[in-house]
Amino acid sequence: MTADNIESLMHEQRRYEPPATGRDTAHVKSLDAYQAIYKRSIEDPDGYWADRATELLTWSKPWDTVLEYDFDKPEIKWFAGGQLNAAYNCLDRHLTDGRRNKAALIWQGEADGAVRTYTYQMLHDEVCRFANVLKKLGVKKGDRVSLYLPMVPELAIAMLACARIGAPHSIVFAGFSANSLRDRVNDCESKILVCSDAVIRSGKTIPLKPNADQALTECPSVEKCVVVRHAGNEVAMQAGRDLWWHDVMCDHGVQGACEPEPMDAEDVLFILYTSGSTGKPKGVYHTTGGYLTYAAHTSQLVFDLHDDDIHWCTADIGWITGHSYIVYGPLALGATSLMFESVPTYPEPDRFWQICEKFKVNIFYTAPTVIRSLMRSGPAWTQKHDLSSLRILGSVGEPINPEAWMWYHEHVGHGKLPIVDTWWQTETGGLMISPLPYATPLKPGSASLPLPGIDAAIVDNENKEVGPNQGGFLVIKKPWPGMLRGIWNAPERFKQQYFTGFKGAYESGDGARRDEEGYFWIMGRVDDVINVSGHRMGTAEIESALVSHPTVAEAAVVGMPHDIKGQSIYAYVTLKAGYEESDDLLKALKMHVRKEIGPIAAPEVIQFAPGLPKTRSGKIMRRILRKIASNEVDSLGDTSTLADPSVVTELIDGKKKLF
Ligand code: PRX
Repeated sequence: MTADNIESLMHEQRRYEPPATGRDTAHVKSLDAYQAIYKRSIEDPDGYWADRATELLTWSKPWDTVLEYDFDKPEIKWFAGGQLNAAYNCLDRHLTDGRRNKAALIWQGEADGAVRTYTYQMLHDEVCRFANVLKKLGVKKGDRVSLYLPMVPELAIAMLACARIGAPHSIVFAGFSANSLRDRVNDCESKILVCSDAVIRSGKTIPLKPNADQALTECPSVEKCVVVRHAGNEVAMQAGRDLWWHDVMCDHGVQGACEPEPMDAEDVLFILYTSGSTGKPKGVYHTTGGYLTYAAHTSQLVFDLHDDDIHWCTADIGWITGHSYIVYGPLALGATSLMFESVPTYPEPDRFWQICEKFKVNIFYTAPTVIRSLMRSGPAWTQKHDLSSLRILGSVGEPINPEAWMWYHEHVGHGKLPIVDTWWQTETGGLMISPLPYATPLKPGSASLPLPGIDAAIVDNENKEVGPNQGGFLVIKKPWPGMLRGIWNAPERFKQQYFTGFKGAYESGDGARRDEEGYFWIMGRVDDVINVSGHRMGTAEIESALVSHPTVAEAAVVGMPHDIKGQSIYAYVTLKAGYEESDDLLKALKMHVRKEIGPIAAPEVIQFAPGLPKTRSGKIMRRILRKIASNEVDSLGDTSTLADPSVVTELIDGKKKLF
């Protein structure tokens, strides 16, 4: 791959200053303050991170060295020699710092009346009990435990119980199939599986235990399966293997305290599987001291968490976003974290806003795909609710196109609230490039500036830094505490994937450009970049252009093989409700892209798509779109993670009508 002609075609000019209200109490109060902190973090990383780790966490034994690393090996060690326990930091210490009776976790189920609130004391007690259960079931420090649960409080409890006894957890998103679960359990050889009877979603009860049963027929390492009764549906329990959560939690032997296991800073806290561009999922693992420092650090700076805030991250805990910003980050800081079981559009497209009003949410963190889908229903749904408690809005997971940004800003933020567009990855453990809400002027569509401690750069294929506004590969030149420490069972893949492409740096796999003010504009995965007649363009940019057309709700762009141009642009477009598909509109959309970006970006083909193939976490599955665009529908590959498989059939049929 060469980067020299990656073109960045977006010329977004809007700019919003950070709000004055809230600045006085903000953790970082101005751009100057950010710059001073950033400078220190780069010039004196050991001193900076030693201070942060001391301020944010409680250590049972101090570290010997702050950082030892060698990216060539690769080997990264933060706070070596130090000891701590993540559950102790998220729970026990808040029992004596005045937060004992404060809400740690508020759970909102799908039904409006289904609410459970755990104070720090209550959560601590539940975690101790389940930690005792795990011990009784034979789990020892270092053993792995897989958690296959919907968004129920037991998921957070089980995670922290694992952390308490030093058993790395591996959470498998409940939307994954039995085979995906099997592969993930087998890769890390978990001893215990925790699952539930079912998932409740959009008024339906979707059985989950049968998936676990199917997977467990081929998981020799699993000795016991603990089942949470959630929906109350009929469940087959296998004698000798399966146990009800509510039974084991009532056993006499598990009541009372469970001492937190002292963990070395570099002991594994969890494994989380994530998809690579090729091959089977990678078991990214994070370690205790560095990850927790970084989750707390970023929660504090970017979400500006204060003691009376209600923090709501809408992600599923099955993804890294939920790990870091529902559980570990907010709880390490002693905040109140809201956890929601269901979807934004059920029973109506105002569910998120209804919850914001109900709990007086202060910090709201969601994904652009959610914003775009809600845009489709129109802004009237936001107006039905009092959103005045909101203070900070966040975005994560993909580049947020300026149109979605503006909608979020105007209709949710009422033109006043900062939007933190946070760029990061499963591998980075926490936020990497993001505005600070009261310090950073905002440019819609830009993740803005690197956080303190993050030495981000854009390089060409020869590992040389490129100039302003030139596209290239986003790399990180120095370690940060939250970075992954490896891929479970695959050290060679770890090295290959992240440390061989650009010597001396971590390779993110994303393309980006940096403008003259140093703002980062993420162009999407490098493998999603299209090369048309020697011009390389970020698909995200073409999508942004399409979405800026008043009729378009969502767009996905992929490359299609082209005899002359190498690749040409194939766009799938979902219209907003109330607009009709027509040839005239197709022409208008092509013209619109020509106008917004230039003739080179005009799609060769636009196909109207009633829906886009998405994973259950809302990520568009471009691999499938590329296959459909390229007429390779016989080899669609693994479609088990699709939220709605019928979308694919509709697209294939729609394509046939086009040609
Ligand atoms: O391409 C980037 C995109 O999501 C990728 C990481 O995906 P994952 O590991 O699943 O983690 C998602 C949640 C952190 C990145 O390589 N991405 C994530 N956030 C942004 C983003 N792209 C642009 N802007 C973002 N804010």
